[in-house]
Amino acid sequence: MCGIIGYIGNDNALDKILYGLKRLEYRGYDSAGISIIDDKKLIRYRSRGRIEDLIEKIKDKKINGTLGIGHTRWATHGKPTDENAHPHIDCSGKISIVHNGIIENYFELKEKLKKKHKFSSETDTEVFAHLIEDFIKEGLENAVKKSILKIKGMYALVIISSDEPDKIVAARQGSPLVIGIGESEVFVSSDIPSFLKYTKKAIFLEDGDIAIIKKDKIRIFNNNKEVKRQIRNIKWTEKQAQKGGFPHFMLKEIMEEPQAFEDTLMGKFDERYGNIKFENIDIMKLKSIENIRIIACGTSYHAAYVAKYLFEKWTGINTQIEIGSEIRYANPVLGEKTLIIIISQSGETIDTIEAFKNIKNNAYYSIAIVNVVGSTLSRMLHGVIYTHAGPEIGVAATKTFISQLAVLYLLALCIAKLKNKINIKDIKNSLRILRKIPSLIKQILSNRRQIEKIAEKYYNHKDFLYYGRNINYPIALEGALKLKEISYIHAEGYPAGEMKHGPIALVDEKVPNVFIAPQNSLYEKVINNIEEIKARNGIIIALTNRSNNEMEKKANDIIYIPDIEEDFYPLLAIIPLQLLAYYIGVKKGIDVDKPRNLAKSVTVE
Ligand code: AGP
Repeated sequence: MCGIIGYIGNDNALDKILYGLKRLEYRGYDSAGISIIDDKKLIRYRSRGRIEDLIEKIKDKKINGTLGIGHTRWATHGKPTDENAHPHIDCSGKISIVHNGIIENYFELKEKLKKKHKFSSETDTEVFAHLIEDFIKEGLENAVKKSILKIKGMYALVIISSDEPDKIVAARQGSPLVIGIGESEVFVSSDIPSFLKYTKKAIFLEDGDIAIIKKDKIRIFNNNKEVKRQIRNIKWTEKQAQKGGFPHFMLKEIMEEPQAFEDTLMGKFDERYGNIKFENIDIMKLKSIENIRIIACGTSYHAAYVAKYLFEKWTGINTQIEIGSEIRYANPVLGEKTLIIIISQSGETIDTIEAFKNIKNNAYYSIAIVNVVGSTLSRMLHGVIYTHAGPEIGVAATKTFISQLAVLYLLALCIAKLKNKINIKDIKNSLRILRKIPSLIKQILSNRRQIEKIAEKYYNHKDFLYYGRNINYPIALEGALKLKEISYIHAEGYPAGEMKHGPIALVDEKVPNVFIAPQNSLYEKVINNIEEIKARNGIIIALTNRSNNEMEKKANDIIYIPDIEEDFYPLLAIIPLQLLAYYIGVKKGIDVDKPRNLAKSVTVE
């Protein structure tokens, strides 16, 4: 997720673009840049780091011009560096482009374009600048239209050319683009906060739209036909707009989970043929591993725990999981040909970094699963797989967790396939299930009011217990962690079968017991646990399948989850537990985006 803005009007473009970029920093902040056309000359400045670093870099420069574009980056391809920062330009230095999204086929396009064009970055975006250059003789808008036909993936593109300094061309496919219409000035941006100060009139482009934007005229085409798009009046403040109209980043990011899941797996599999591919991973190494050791902290550790069940069941490979702060001081004995997997959304958790340093020499192969391109852990291991969750502003890990699970499910399938532990029919079926996860999450999210009502019933309780069996046990742990972090209420996650070995002593009419109770092979066992708690007047909140009306007689409250094959249940069960924690925290008047004592990235001992 990146922040894009273009401006054309009568005022100084640089001022308006820098102002807009600062309002878009929540979308990405590892590097930033601007291109301004000043008296038919294209001037570009870029800087690694935050927008303030870019402003510092250009503060003494005289940059006039009333047409320009700007970008604040969340890296997906290529580390955060000056060279990889947007805007990108073509070889003539006349065409400049900013992009949000992923050009899936950039690699093959780049191989062809490299014969004629000199590349200066590792990004997928630069490919598009050179594609336009090849067609530019037909004019900017036609060059963009023809270039777009060659790319696959998601994009929001904003392009300017010093040879045509009276227009901006913008194109949208899968990534948001919105036009702000002012008095003799027009903005085009990833999101409305960037121009709300200047105008509340907006046009939301739709997929396939190409807009030709002049300061007093906007034309929009789709499939080569001119189309009309409604002008809307935005009622949000800037702050509200940055949160997408949601009250908190945490809720906005939970609502983004379907997209985060989809973006993370984009281009990595094809269920029609059972194909799975991870770039920058040595598949032959994966094929020969004999042990797996996963290291992480906090929520990422719970993702590792889900993976343990998956890897052992699907691949038959011994899988151990370690908490970073524990193994960093231990003397682990790694088995033969051990694959080390490190999971960290920030890529900067010191306990995880130090833990990896403690064992890396014995690692047969190692893979980092991180959300931040260029982070420390993304550079320390043999291979890296990025979760494309975009920036997560809320301190609590939500969309990064579901994105980690997305990678781990696909990686488990990939290894199972390499080890011939799964037949092609089951691979295709599993991939079809992964394909439908985003829509199933959306179904749960559309029901969030029901979860809010449950939160309103129980937010005053002092202790919660969470229970799950087998692959749902780590989700009980994560649900309890979310509640602790966001509401400061004491909560513990337990294997449901462990209840009778102690925790049941905590049960009385004051304790809500949250059960992850899918109608699967262990359902009867979980029902027995529920009965034991009911017999002691415990409160039962059950997550179960929509079709399970037996539970109505047993639970005080039920949260329904769409039916899904039992191994995939964690991908859905976590969503209502994140929402439950969120609504309870809000009900308690807590700043759920910045809970006390917590940091987004624990880089201290
Ligand atoms: C998650 O909600 C917590 N904020 C915390 O447990 C976090 O998961 C942990 O610090 C690990 O962070 P990482 O994924 O960036 O390594």
